[in-house]
Amino acid sequence: MSTFVKVATRKELPPGGRKVVEVDGIAVALFNVGGQICAIEDVCTHDGGPLAQGVLVSPQIIACPRHGAEFHVCTGKALTLPAIEDVETFPVKVEGEDILIESFF
Ligand code: FES
Repeated sequence: MSTFVKVATRKELPPGGRKVVEVDGIAVALFNVGGQICAIEDVCTHDGGPLAQGVLVSPQIIACPRHGAEFHVCTGKALTLPAIEDVETFPVKVEGEDILIESFF
């Protein structure tokens, strides 16, 4: 069974913003892409780099701060080497001012 848990408010995540939260012991990076809230695991699939500390090379694409692999922040797709595996994505709900992420625990 899953449930959605509040992890942030809209005020904390303005357009273009990002925030790292923890859900079920997993570091999750939230991004506000032009008003759409996206959530991916904050761990690069290449060698564990903290993705949210990277540079946004476009509003939807983050470059890992360690070796530069690029990921789509909404689909989790690995777009460039050295990463070859996608990162996990998490369902997001916005209820009023609250941002919620699906938790399976
Ligand atoms: S740890 Fe992210 S590109 Fe190497």
